[in-house]
Amino acid sequence: MPVLNWIGKDAVVNHDKEVPFRLLKKVKSASVGENSQNLIIHGDNLEALKALMPYYAGKIKCIYIDPPYNTGNEKWVYNDKVNSPKIKKWIGKVVGPESEDLSRHDKWLCMMYPRLKLLRDLLGDDGVIFASIDDWEFDYLKLIFDEIFDRKNHINTLIWRKNAGASNDVKYFGVEHEYILCYARDINKVDRFLTSLSDKHRAEYKYRDANFAKFGPYKRYNLYQPGIDENRPNLQYEIEAPDGSQISIKPHIWRYSKETFLQAKKEGKIDFVKNKKSGQWQIFTKIYLHETGKERRIKPRSILLEQGFTLNGNRELLKIFGKKVFNYPKPSSLIKYLIEIITHDYKDSIVLDSFAGTGTTGDAVIQLNKEDKGNRKFILIEMEDKVAKDITAERVKRVIKKYDYKDGFEYCELDKPLFDENGQINEECTFEQLATYVYFTETNTNIDKNKISKEFIGEHNETEYYLLFNGKGKNVLDRNFLKKINKNGNKKIIYADKCLIDSRTLEKNKIVFKQIPYEVKVY
Ligand SMILES: C[S@@+](CC[C@H](N)C(=O)[O-])C[C@H]1O[C@@H](n2cnc3c(N)ncnc32)[C@H](O)[C@@H]1O
Repeated sequence: MPVLNWIGKDAVVNHDKEVPFRLLKKVKSASVGENSQNLIIHGDNLEALKALMPYYAGKIKCIYIDPPYNTGNEKWVYNDKVNSPKIKKWIGKVVGPESEDLSRHDKWLCMMYPRLKLLRDLLGDDGVIFASIDDWEFDYLKLIFDEIFDRKNHINTLIWRKNAGASNDVKYFGVEHEYILCYARDINKVDRFLTSLSDKHRAEYKYRDANFAKFGPYKRYNLYQPGIDENRPNLQYEIEAPDGSQISIKPHIWRYSKETFLQAKKEGKIDFVKNKKSGQWQIFTKIYLHETGKERRIKPRSILLEQGFTLNGNRELLKIFGKKVFNYPKPSSLIKYLIEIITHDYKDSIVLDSFAGTGTTGDAVIQLNKEDKGNRKFILIEMEDKVAKDITAERVKRVIKKYDYKDGFEYCELDKPLFDENGQINEECTFEQLATYVYFTETNTNIDKNKISKEFIGEHNETEYYLLFNGKGKNVLDRNFLKKINKNGNKKIIYADKCLIDSRTLEKNKIVFKQIPYEVKVY
């Protein structure tokens, strides 16, 4: 498979592993409600995604991202602390426009690569990621997606019509579209895509018959298949019209075999309509809106023409804030449309947006839950100090109020790294935080908080994990503790500050002692 190379690539391909693990600190005053599982995180998404890993690795169903497009107007700054002399020169400087900054695409790729790796690891096996992008970086983004997610997991690249028309100063094409890349974590585990009908499509179901109470209204679908004239004798037959005349369409064909047609006719699911002008009969099958008990869903199309324009995003935001507060927010209808396809049958799933901007994704999740009584959760990450609280969180707060929504959100800041500069565990780290981290680094799975019982923090592959972390001087693995633990013969990994048990006894009890902090794996 062809792969893309760029300045700094070698230094960033594993940078996601080098990013220090930070704890998340809840800011109560900026949160809404108590103990919500919706999160808005203020911070650089490289660190924020890493901080989420012990809690959410493999658990996210749908990701939508809308990163800086690198147009040259955004004034974004490369800020990742990658250990490379070349890259260090970039840090803290605004990425310039095409004509002035020769490494602007390298910087952008260096920024995106480790973030996409973390996003991939957060996605569940059946998860799907969407990434908005335009011509500035589309081709490069596609190649790094192929590399990180694997080309076989590329579902489609969608075209979103973002505006109509071209301004007078456009020199070449008036660009009306941008792209949305869509990848699966594992394409074999992703269900067939369906979407709900748009109002326009729903309006086509305008006929009623005796089945109305059961199946709802129906639309007509021509039985005649135009343009196919191959030899398919079972689809070529004469049909008797209500006036006794014979309708034949040779050499073209019908969509139903004769048996299927006669069965449908018997069930009253065929309409004969005489064209007033030509006097010719037309035959239609009936497609009911609620034939399966639920409203029919259709295959989503790769060109998004009806999901709202950029100007709808602007108007929406203007309505919420009463003034312009952000450039180019996406319309919530677009994001809602994408999320609905992925989560229609997963109404409890988690949706993540790590370039949250104005929080459109949170708005979309709330609207969707309101509409279909879902219980989806959202996680939004926004780095800019001036945006995260006053725009992202504020918008979501106002939307919650507008819809009288059942849930709130926790607003979090990135806290200190788990390990301080001397390699000691951050003093503010709680038992649950360290347990979650240790369990994740040991098992690569997320802890089940309900299973935590005092020092026991979980079991995985017939190994039990214990953590003694109860204030300095108290975390000793001694004979008293040994008496308390299970005698079921399973292997036990016990984290503590000190061990007072001899190695033979440990071995006999299948215990592996790991000393805090030195043997807490750096993830
Ligand atoms: C194109 S905007 C997203 C707009 C959003 N989709 C909306 O509808 O409002 C990109 C956002 O990502 C944020 N951002 C850029 N780099 C980031 C990073 N490293 N971590 C977190 N947020 C970042 C920017 O501050 C900006 O608000």
